[in-house]
Amino acid sequence: MPAELSPIDKAKSAAAKRAVGFVQDGMRVGLGTGSTAAWMVKALGERVRDEGLRIKGVPTSTRTADLAREEGIEVVTLDEAKWLDLTIDGTDEFDSNLNLIKGGGGALLQEKIVATASDQMIVIADAGKEVSQLGAFPLPIEVIRFGWQTTKALIEELLVSLDVLGQTTTLRMNRTEPYLTDEGNYILDLHLQRIGNARQLALVLNQVPGVVENGLFIDICDIVIIGHGDGKVELRDINAGSVANERVEFAENENVFADLGD
Ligand code: 5RP
Repeated sequence: MPAELSPIDKAKSAAAKRAVGFVQDGMRVGLGTGSTAAWMVKALGERVRDEGLRIKGVPTSTRTADLAREEGIEVVTLDEAKWLDLTIDGTDEFDSNLNLIKGGGGALLQEKIVATASDQMIVIADAGKEVSQLGAFPLPIEVIRFGWQTTKALIEELLVSLDVLGQTTTLRMNRTEPYLTDEGNYILDLHLQRIGNARQLALVLNQVPGVVENGLFIDICDIVIIGHGDGKVELRDINAGSVANERVEFAENENVFADLGD
């Protein structure tokens, strides 16, 4: 394990490294977005180069597509792959049912489409992403630009009648301009603090005209791999109801992650 990495980066890299152990020759793999997912793309690239692993990767953002190509992973579109064996992605929060809040990195739409089109979704995370109840992390909602202020007002009106603690919504910014997703949409961040009924919220948000998708991933994740700074990983499989504790070994001089920041 490289000495210069922070404990959180070691945790992310350990989870990522364990997750790519699920990838087998010939698989079509969904590639998530974000700093944890970037460790995974690096680790997968290493397997492609070292073992001659033949896989097709479907990235969930232009950022991930660029990184995957740099790593020598064959990149195809979801329409070319049609269906995926496995998707590996990060998360902003996960609860005990492996329901998630995603979209902190702005890629929730492609991430949800890709994960839903996969036989299995594995989420990789450091322990800080685990919550007893979703909602402390602001919930991202992708909305089309046309009439976004009306969409925002409709969402705020809706929140009044729902089991959430906070109701503030903010337009995500990129310095002085609204943040644009890969699809050219805006993102509203909902500061809910606590979500009482995530399943209901996910359903009703998508009924609002102008909403493209929300960042709640309900019943999509199958396995979460929680990494720790000392190389330990915990694997929780929601379908098998199993928990396994393992350790990821890093070669003495291994430095594959050293060039990755957030
Ligand atoms: C991007 C995402 C990311 O998976 C999520 O934001 C976690 O990112 P990181 O691994 O950098 O903490 O949903 O849209």
